[in-house]
Order: sequence, then structure tokens, then C-alpha cells
Amino acid sequence: MFKKFRKNDDKQMQHDALDLQHIPEHIAIIMDGNGRWAKQRKMPRIKGHYQGMETIKAITRAASDLDVKYLTLYAFSTENWSRPQEEINYIMGLPVNFLNTFLPELIEKNVKVETIGFMDELPTKTIQAIEEAKLKTADNTGLTLIFAINYGGRAEVMNGIHQVIKQYKNASDSEIDQLSEKEFSRYLMTSEFPDPDLLIRTSGEQRISNFLIWQLSYSEFIFNEKMWPEFSEEDLTACIKTYQSRQRRFGGL
Ligand code: FPP
Repeated sequence: MFKKFRKNDDKQMQHDALDLQHIPEHIAIIMDGNGRWAKQRKMPRIKGHYQGMETIKAITRAASDLDVKYLTLYAFSTENWSRPQEEINYIMGLPVNFLNTFLPELIEKNVKVETIGFMDELPTKTIQAIEEAKLKTADNTGLTLIFAINYGGRAEVMNGIHQVIKQYKNASDSEIDQLSEKEFSRYLMTSEFPDPDLLIRTSGEQRISNFLIWQLSYSEFIFNEKMWPEFSEEDLTACIKTYQSRQRRFGGL
């Protein structure tokens, strides 16, 4: 009991130091280190993914409570298909498990579920679970929780280029020259969302691994040493505090 009280006390202190007026509107996370977390505990890799799913619940709750508007999570990349089939099958089952156990709370918290990525290449059961969640949360106005599944930044940009070429096939040279960055953004899978203010990658790796390569141009990057399954609400708060201590200049002075 005393321990619980202490923990809540610490949490309160962390929150007190946060500037609640300047919470990043959009946080994107590369959830890395599930496999290593499991290996360190002599457990199979899939245990790490299961625990990673539990972390998603905790971080979604925390982001929603802090009034973050968009949370984008890199759940499966276009490159992850090269993993062993058994691991892929397990990861593809996780959205089903996640939504079976968590959708009522997402609805209660006014969270809207969205995705980016090539959804039609996923197993039917995965698509069905996600489509149901999208439908049931479509009118929610709180946090937008965006899963990047079968997503790759270069593939997304190429897909956008293909769309533009089709759209502009009868256009004049000057019309093509006038295509702006803002206009091109409308052809990306993120067209409905603002660019991330903050990118967090767990597990100590320092690269972006083909995640949101267009949208992260001016984001702040924070590389956290913890493995994703052990990343906590307090870690999220600490990352936001670091973000708040930085000055974003967007190329100006
Ligand atoms: C990175 O760790 C993690 C992944 C590639 C998969 C992440 C997926 C989830 C957490 C579950 C998704 C669930 C829902 C609800 C969409 P890694 O396996 O690359 O770890 P390692 O670098 O230590 O091997």
C-alpha cells in the first residue's frame, strides 16, 4: 500500500514538472527491443511482442491522459516480412488480441483508431479486427491512435509519386512545377494528420528505419535506452520534458 502511494506520488511530481500547455501534439514511436527484452529473460521472442502490446496499452492511456492529439506507433514495417513465419503470424494476431481486450477502454477514453500502411496485404483476421475498431471509434474526438502496419516510408513516398503521375498525366509543365510540398503531402498515407513533433525510439538504436521519412523532417528525436516492453508512463513523461527543454527553430534563427 505504502509502495503504491509512493509510486503515485512520484508520478504526480513528474507531471508537476511538465508544461501542460506545450504537450507535443503528435508523438511517433519506433517500438524497438521486444526481441532483446525477451532474450535477456531467456524467453522466446514472441513473449517480448506480447509484453510490447501491454506497453502499447499503458502508453496509449498515458498519451490520452496528457491530451496528446496523435500517437503513431510503428508496429510492422514492410521489411518485417523477412522474419520467421512463426513470428510474423504471432505479430499479426496481436492487433486481434489488443482490440479484443482494449477496444472498450479505447471507446471509453474517446480514442480514435487509424492506420497507415498497405493494409490489404495483411491476413484477413487482422484487417477485420482493425476495421471494426476504426468503425467503432470513427466519431471519437480525443487521441488519434495510428498504427503503422506493413508500413515503409520509401514505399509510401513511391506510392504517392505513382498517384501524382496518374493525376498529372495531362498537366502542363508549369502545372507540374507548381506542385508544392504541401500539395504532395496530400498523396501520403498521413494526409489527415500533422507531422510528428517528437519521435521516440526505444532500445538505444539510433536510426529511423524507413519510418515517416517525409514527415519527420523537423521533428525532435529522442533515443531512449529502455527496451519497448519496459518503457513506462514515467519514461514518456521524461521524454516530453526533454522535448520541452529543446528549442525548435524549423530552419530559422
Ligand atoms: C520491434 O522489436 C518490434 C516489432 C517489429 C513489432 C512490434 C509489434 C508490437 C509491439 C505489437 C503490435 C500490436 C498491435 C496492437 C498493433 P524487435 O522484434 O525488432 O526487437 P529486437 O530489435 O530486440 O529484436
